[in-house]
Amino acid sequence: MSIYKKILVTGGAGFIGSNFIHLALKSLPNTHIVNLDKLTYAGNLRNLEAIKKNYTFVKGDILDSSLVQNLIPQCDTVVHFAAESHVDRSILDAVSFIETNVKGTLVLLEAIKKINPQCRFVHVSTDEVYGSLSEQDAAFTEQTNLAPNSPYSASKAGSDLLVRSYVHTHQLDAITTRCSNNYGPYQFPEKLIPLMITNALENKPLPVYGEGKNIRDWIYVTDHCEGLLLALEKGKSGEVYNFGGDIQKNNIDVVKNILKILNKPESLIRFVEDRKGHDWRYDMNNSKAKTQLGWAPSHTFETGLEKTVAWYCKNETWWKEIKTGEYRDFYKKYYGGIG
Ligand code: NAD
Ligand code: TYD
Repeated sequence: MSIYKKILVTGGAGFIGSNFIHLALKSLPNTHIVNLDKLTYAGNLRNLEAIKKNYTFVKGDILDSSLVQNLIPQCDTVVHFAAESHVDRSILDAVSFIETNVKGTLVLLEAIKKINPQCRFVHVSTDEVYGSLSEQDAAFTEQTNLAPNSPYSASKAGSDLLVRSYVHTHQLDAITTRCSNNYGPYQFPEKLIPLMITNALENKPLPVYGEGKNIRDWIYVTDHCEGLLLALEKGKSGEVYNFGGDIQKNNIDVVKNILKILNKPESLIRFVEDRKGHDWRYDMNNSKAKTQLGWAPSHTFETGLEKTVAWYCKNETWWKEIKTGEYRDFYKKYYGGIG
């Protein structure tokens, strides 16, 4: 029997949140999940269609403090995913990033402080708060100074510091997790891997920024979600835990791997203008999560990518609906129609 009876998940209709809900309901059978999601362009209820029990959806904004204050007393844990999550969008307009990522996190912390101070808060953050590494630098540890470079990562760093301050000042029971680049089912096709898979399936150009040499650490989404369940259960308040997949790849190799699995030609690749302020490399030292939480990623890049490509091949309706809607308008407006 699980000790966690009621979990409030924020942003559970997005990519990682929906994978987390599927996994949590499977792994913790005595748990009820309330999913608070505003359904921005990135939220999709189709991700959760298969869930039939122990689950309630509430459409709403984490900035709505009276709504949040109604939900907080009913739960013993909050797992906080809700965010604006795409770096390119933050470069074009950062306002919603500050609103949701910083102010929204503050609304949740304040509600817990006022109404349910025993509630455990798991704050889902990112390796991008540490900034960028050169080829020679050692991987980020939990002690690495925060040095965010994009408006997205700055807004996440701001939220991480708020969480830290509420533990220190108000003794909240809160944990921050920082994870590298996730990939897998239900990822909105504006991020590198699903954009490349779906464009390749449609024989459309694959836009690679700069020379495609930037390096990311990749983690299969369920490996991250398993780490979150362990952090929720075993994490110590006030601590930060890094999660990463132990997989370093430059972007062009990722794209070529996808084309190879799909048996599509490399002539689909287009090198396009580089992202402004493009972080060169991320790499996570995840030994603390391994030793203190007993966690380890179970997917290699090969197994994770095969599964991901297979999922997008099988779920064409899911991504085609997205690509003919708001996604396309956005890219038409800003990038002249790529995608
Ligand atoms: P996503 O963009 O796919 O989903 C975000 C979800 O939050 C959507 O369902 C959206 O509707 C919801 N949302 C946005 N603003 C909201 C608001 N004001 N109120 C309520 N709901 C709102 O994001 P994701 O990739 O699933 O990322 C989830 C979290 O994990 C984010 O906090 C992100 O910073 C973090 N993270 C992501 C990655 C990654 O590789 N995707 C890596 C590390 C950390
Ligand atoms: P992305 O998936 O946006 O994640 P993040 O910026 O948070 O790491 O991008 C991953 C890498 O892929 C990053 O170096 C930017 C690059 N990229 C492209 O080359 N082309 C694209 O169309 C996108 C979306 C990303």
